[in-house]
Amino acid sequence: MCGIVGYAGHRPAVEVVMSGLKRLEYRGYDSAGVAVVADGALDVRKKAGKLANLQAMLELDPMKDASTGMGHTRWATHGGPTDVNAHPHVSSGGRVAVIHNGIIENFAELVAELAADGIVMTSETDTEVVAHLLESTVERTGDLAEAMRAACLRLSGAFTLVALDAQDPGRLVAARRNSPLVVGIGEGEHFLASDVSAFIDYTRQAIELGQDQVVDLHAEGVTVTDFRGEPVEVSPFTVTWDASAAEKGGFDLFMLKEIAEQPKAVADTLLGRIAPDGLLRLDEVHIPVAELREVDKIVIVACGTAYHAGLVAKYAIEHWCRIPCEVELASEFRYRDPILTRRILVIAISQSGETMDTLMAVRHAREQGARVLAICNTNGSTIPRESDAVLYTQAGPEIAVASTKAFLTQIVAVYLVALYLAQVRGNKFGDEVAAIVGQLATMPHKVDLVLDTVEGVRALAQQFADASSVLFIGRHVGYPVALEGALKLKELAYMHAEGFAAGELKHGPIALIEDGVPVIVVVPPPQGRGVLHEKIISNIQEVRARGAVTIVIAEEGDDVVTPYADHLIRVPACPTLMQPLVSTVPLQVFACELATAKGHDVDQPRNLAKSVTVE
Ligand code: AGP
Repeated sequence: MCGIVGYAGHRPAVEVVMSGLKRLEYRGYDSAGVAVVADGALDVRKKAGKLANLQAMLELDPMKDASTGMGHTRWATHGGPTDVNAHPHVSSGGRVAVIHNGIIENFAELVAELAADGIVMTSETDTEVVAHLLESTVERTGDLAEAMRAACLRLSGAFTLVALDAQDPGRLVAARRNSPLVVGIGEGEHFLASDVSAFIDYTRQAIELGQDQVVDLHAEGVTVTDFRGEPVEVSPFTVTWDASAAEKGGFDLFMLKEIAEQPKAVADTLLGRIAPDGLLRLDEVHIPVAELREVDKIVIVACGTAYHAGLVAKYAIEHWCRIPCEVELASEFRYRDPILTRRILVIAISQSGETMDTLMAVRHAREQGARVLAICNTNGSTIPRESDAVLYTQAGPEIAVASTKAFLTQIVAVYLVALYLAQVRGNKFGDEVAAIVGQLATMPHKVDLVLDTVEGVRALAQQFADASSVLFIGRHVGYPVALEGALKLKELAYMHAEGFAAGELKHGPIALIEDGVPVIVVVPPPQGRGVLHEKIISNIQEVRARGAVTIVIAEEGDDVVTPYADHLIRVPACPTLMQPLVSTVPLQVFACELATAKGHDVDQPRNLAKSVTVE
């Protein structure tokens, strides 16, 4: 939700900032802007629309040379996506420019206060108030860092802010509360960004700015304080992936690249966590085994795709650990006053580790005394930092807005936690755990086999580009897979798509079926719970009898379904709980291809942003 880049060093700042914005554009892409100080004055350019619009503007009218600068790519909250509302915003006296990610919740009150001082807002944004607040202090003290600290103490809500003072070139001051900011440490140069991909070409040394901290950044160094000006000790970390991980690597789309990376992502998530005896070693989960043995309930909180991963995991947790498990949308969790105790383990799933709804659920759970374990893909992000323990998925950076490899690795990571719980609590014997771990270990190869067959899925998807609605049905773990398939189609193809528990159809949704409506069916393995397979065959018959066109995802060798499938997509045979790892992949490809056929921007679908850092 908004990408932020800052640079102070020896390179041309506009170039560095624009290349960083390109990497962060997935975070928001409805407008973009850049600011530098040149000849003692701010030079600010901004433009509605994608970054390419700003780029074209700069090519026509290049900015002045500068070695300090900042840039922003926006996902609109306050005020529509216009040139005027694009960031940076400049103070009334023209001295301070500011960029912002988040929402200033008390902005109306601050606007009224500024109006009383005769300051007229020129944009509809909440951000502009910060530029005016900063200028009023900096005019008095001449110190941008002090002005930032004073402003932050007056703000409520979520914010990452970066500011530039026309009278103090060579310096950037940034602050954060409830919104991400990392500092890149180079030689004679320093960077600021919403995530490390913006500066990975220049340095892999980074510092994650903590909650309520301010960083004062020059080419030669950085100083971090809290909002009261007390120095803060920082611990730099090294980014373990390289720049190529954030590039398309020969694929037309990040989404296609990330779909193709799934076998490796799954394998990497298992790596180093299985001991030679087949048992699990999750040393990184710093919750004492004695406490894990006492857990009497698990609550999973997450949003979107991560929530669907949680829904899949519930089946495994209850089956393997015999611990009751609830899965809840993080945005609803804390508002219903959930009953939480020390014996409840809350599992927060988040690719980005910055999703505000999930973060708020984590905070609420901890305040109520529950233990929180994060499943996260982004090292050092806020959700794992605020949790009691974390198990990282090893998917590598996920850039496409539509989540793919994160979903598969989230399922794998929660399965590892479930099996670990079963192991330490004695719900399963060692050989039983080892057998299931062995099944998991075969999944990268099986996902690879699915990838070999996706050409057929692509051709099929194109046939449905004109459908007005697509329905997805599944049973057991196939139900969350159906929800995920529908979410992918909604967000990428902008089509009406709904996922249903197949058994629920006859309770209402079957009324949606009419001649030619495509229904995608996720068929459970016949050798699993046999009854599930029989039941879904009945459900397929019910929709066909009413005119639906059925697209059936079924495992190799399941010939019983063949007569009921207008189109058949085969996936390798797997145990029931493993099937989501293969059956989801054709649905990702289907949505990606259908959106491409409709001419949509798959990596940056309309109205969305990769990481949702507002509630
Ligand atoms: C789905 O494709 C999404 N991009 C979205 O639903 C996402 O999964 C959700 O916003 C949660 O994000 P997180 O995993 O970063 O917390």
